[in-house]
Amino acid sequence: MANNNGTIQANGPVSLVKPASAIGAGQQPAVEAEKLTRVLPLGEQQVHILNSVSFAIAPGEWIALTGASGSGKSTLLGVIAGLDTPSSGSISIDGVDITHMSGTALAGLRNRKIGIVFQSFNLISALTAQENVEVPLYVRGGHHNAPDKARQMLEVVGLRERRGHRPNQLSGGEQQRTAIARALVTQPTILVADEPTGNLDSTTGAQVLDLFARLHRELNLTLIIATHDPAVAARATRVLHMVDGRLDTPTEALAASGGVL
Ligand SMILES: Nc1ncnc2c1ncn2[C@@H]1O[C@H](COP(=O)(O)OP(=O)(O)O)[C@@H](O)[C@H]1O
Ligand SMILES: [Mg+2]
Repeated sequence: MANNNGTIQANGPVSLVKPASAIGAGQQPAVEAEKLTRVLPLGEQQVHILNSVSFAIAPGEWIALTGASGSGKSTLLGVIAGLDTPSSGSISIDGVDITHMSGTALAGLRNRKIGIVFQSFNLISALTAQENVEVPLYVRGGHHNAPDKARQMLEVVGLRERRGHRPNQLSGGEQQRTAIARALVTQPTILVADEPTGNLDSTTGAQVLDLFARLHRELNLTLIIATHDPAVAARATRVLHMVDGRLDTPTEALAASGGVL
């Protein structure tokens, strides 16, 4: 169980009265996007996968990124995480414009500041849970105590006893908790997750969601989770809803949906 210490509490429900931006005066956004577009050619035509997307996310917010399949959620998360380059517009992390950053500098910033969790876990099958969690520390370099750090992070996600298991010896929930430990072992301030409960049954998904809630609270993470799951959206502090590559979060629509768009 992710919450075996019994201290996990749900965040409040989605606030229906929060302004579109939760940035306080003088506060630096954790993530700021300005008029992001991503345009791809499709035959003779051009498809706007992202269409003038602007937002600011304050440090410590928990954002649920919702929207139908194909609305652009994964593309937007890829741009936020520096895995994808926008066609125009800009994206900043902690006030640093990463839009035109070079591959090496971007990889370094991502390693320091951003953890990424995928729907399909993306663990390395030949490595144990412990070794999978050590990988980002070796990528960063200069970490002689990688095994200790990885062990500690696996304890945080409740997998102390599973350290020596390979992914195919772990349940889906355990694999996702390993992936979360891997994303957090470098102590990023921002955690981006793409449908992290999408491959899990509802009970296991709820445990992983409890883990996100605990990590959000205890590590003061900025969490950005793309999700179809109303239970995930209900725990977030703010919902950003995408429609056809655009952000669309009218307060009235959110209220009418009871916070679950
Ligand atoms: N590399 C690509 N080439 C062409 N079309 C793409 C590519 N990546 C995504 N798309 C299209 O962009 C749209 C948004 O995709 P995606 O960001 O994966 O949406 P979501 O995560 O909300 O399901 C979809 O119509 C998808 O088919
Ligand atoms: Mg997607």
